[in-house]
Amino acid sequence: MKITKICCIGAGYVGGPTMAVIAQKCPHIQVTVVDLNEQRIADWNDPNPENIPIYEPGLSEIVSEARGRNLFFSTDVDKAIDEAQMIFISVNTPTKTYGKGKGMAADLKYIELCARQIARVAKQNKIVVEKSTLPVRTAEAIKSILDNTGNGVQFQILSNPEFLAEGTAVADLLNPDRILIGGDTNQEGEEAINSLVDVYANWVSKDRILTTNVWSSELSKLTANAFLAQRISSINAMSELCEKTGADVNEVAKAIGMDSRIGPKFLKASVGFGGSCFQKDILNLVYIAKSYGLNEVADYWEQVIIMNDHQKRRFSNKIVQTLYNTVADKKIAFLGWAFKKDTNDTRESAAIYVADDLINEQAKISVYDPKVSKNKMLSDLDYLETRTGEENRSALNVFDNAYEACKDAHAIAILTEWDEFTMYDWKKIYDSMHKPAFIFDGRNILNAKQLESIGFVYNGIGS
Ligand code: NAI
Repeated sequence: MKITKICCIGAGYVGGPTMAVIAQKCPHIQVTVVDLNEQRIADWNDPNPENIPIYEPGLSEIVSEARGRNLFFSTDVDKAIDEAQMIFISVNTPTKTYGKGKGMAADLKYIELCARQIARVAKQNKIVVEKSTLPVRTAEAIKSILDNTGNGVQFQILSNPEFLAEGTAVADLLNPDRILIGGDTNQEGEEAINSLVDVYANWVSKDRILTTNVWSSELSKLTANAFLAQRISSINAMSELCEKTGADVNEVAKAIGMDSRIGPKFLKASVGFGGSCFQKDILNLVYIAKSYGLNEVADYWEQVIIMNDHQKRRFSNKIVQTLYNTVADKKIAFLGWAFKKDTNDTRESAAIYVADDLINEQAKISVYDPKVSKNKMLSDLDYLETRTGEENRSALNVFDNAYEACKDAHAIAILTEWDEFTMYDWKKIYDSMHKPAFIFDGRNILNAKQLESIGFVYNGIGS
């Protein structure tokens, strides 16, 4: 089938950028992104492209080029489903917070709602593409809903997981390492796969487009995230050993990364990984393994999460210990709240957990992040339900300037690796702080020697 109309359900961190790039690269395809969240759609339609709800370098330019031409954002989900030949499902799949599998399994209620809505509305054959990250064999459930509650039309289900990384989403989408498309191995399945291959082939060379069966595709996404997170937990585990032995984790990472079998990427020790995906996808993998009775497999991967939680807690403990075992009423300045640089996404950010620990110790936190709003930070803390919203508001102050946030602080903690932090006038910051002036560099981005020569007491990770 030659695709001329695409609908994407879910205008989030994946649906928005992915569809913007498809629209830019395929001017002959009409792309409509729909969402139930009216505010989110209004923000995507904001006349000033700088105000779109997701910050990614290069995204606002692409949106302003394609929006209104062949890229549309709407809340009319039924209409977009009805018109499209191909429907991407890109809704959230968070960890379940209730019932069976609570705290582990993926919550598929949003996926099921989409499937039921597609089944109700569709009057012609459709290709349904799983873009969300899903447990292996979810396509089976979607197919069953579509076939049994629909209007008798034919559906093909494809799995097309997204490998973009936030902060580099546009570059990753324009130049992906690979595109993965899983589908049925019969003739109809192959035709559906080819329709989606043709969409990507508008800008991705065919040797980078892999096609597999649906189950391999679904499981590959969980596996990729598990492997990536595992590298971070592995180097973080070594960082603790480095601190005890006098080794330097940056030197160790460089030495092992030059081994071509290991490679240099994802070997940066830090305060721990965050983001909406790694933890949720590993927990999901652990749950799936357990459900098949594969307890050793489950335990192996669960350790990646245990190590990550330990690394976050270790960071806040180190701050308390170094500040003479008390941070009560001390001002700790946080530079960064986003889970990584170049994004305004804060989901599962280490900053949230470190702040929560320090507020338990009665510290006063002052935060500066170039892209995260005060409301977002407070709602992240409120979500933990550790204390009342009022208590969070009195413990956390937000500044729109790093120098103000650091003024009169007893210590600074670097929680996100924003480039601008390396370019500050650190002498000026030092002069405005209580002495001794401590820095806890949770991302190992600052120049320790230079800071120490100014007078700071510098603490990095793993040295
Ligand atoms: P998100 O939470 O930013 O966006 C999901 C959107 O779907 C929300 O705006 C929500 O209102 C909307 N939605 C939910 N149910 C709906 C329904 N029935 N009808 C219409 N809209 C509905 O989530 P994000 O980050 O875009 O993730 C989406 C999926 O992509 C998840 O499965 C995630 O694991 C996966 N993924 C995320 C990556 C990331 O970097 N954020 C990378 C690769 C995959």
